[in-house]
Amino acid sequence: MDETKPAVPGRLVVALDGPGSSGKSSVGAAAALEVGYRFCDTGLLYRAVTWLALARSVSASYPHAMRGLADEVELAPDAEGRLARVLVDGVDHTDDVHKPDVDAAVSAVSAIPELRLALLDRQRALAEPGGIVMAGRDIGTVVLPDADLKVFLEASAEERARRRAEERGVDPKSPAGAAILDALRRRDELDSTRAVAPLRAAPDARIISTDGNRFEDTVDAVVNAIRDVEARRASEPERSGASA
Ligand code: C5P
Repeated sequence: MDETKPAVPGRLVVALDGPGSSGKSSVGAAAALEVGYRFCDTGLLYRAVTWLALARSVSASYPHAMRGLADEVELAPDAEGRLARVLVDGVDHTDDVHKPDVDAAVSAVSAIPELRLALLDRQRALAEPGGIVMAGRDIGTVVLPDADLKVFLEASAEERARRRAEERGVDPKSPAGAAILDALRRRDELDSTRAVAPLRAAPDARIISTDGNRFEDTVDAVVNAIRDVEARRASEPERSGASA
């Protein structure tokens, strides 16, 4: 299936970054739906390659083999047209790629420069037509440094672990809840200290702290940021096409 779409004039490219369980995927998908943009969750690409590597026992110490696996994964639209499903060799593995074994291995896999390079052009091609919210770790810094709007979602590790535990039906105060917090901290550490494209807010990103926020408030904050930039762009004569 072709992941790309024809260009939509006047629609922005929005980079949405943040650590694991900061709400990027759910907030990004809801905000995109509200403004009529496409949504793309790039973490799914890294998760799918990791899942495939585990299934085939391919070690992260073979970067070229890892790079090859990237050709076998593709993003696919869900019922609402968001690129929030992942296919491996044409089969939907969206649920599999969110399992704890993938959580534990994905940061090591996504630190492989050859793999990141293989996925870079695909992500850029997806964003090229505009009208997209693209969520990830390095979208504003590396993938789309010229994005029209960059948003970075922040939340404490404790708050993010609590959300993830609740998603999985686990008591955040139980030993299983504590394990979720540990795993999240480990992933934060690996993602933010890797040599290539570490998790980092772009200097020109709007930082939105989601600690204690209601989900809808964070979605509103992102939607408002998008509408602000759209309005500003529409009033710039050279961009709106009006003559001076
Ligand atoms: O966003 P999510 O938690 O699903 O991402 C899974 C992993 O994929 C992250 O922990 C990170 O290692 C990697 N990732 C990345 N760059 C992106 C998106 C995700 O390195 N743009």
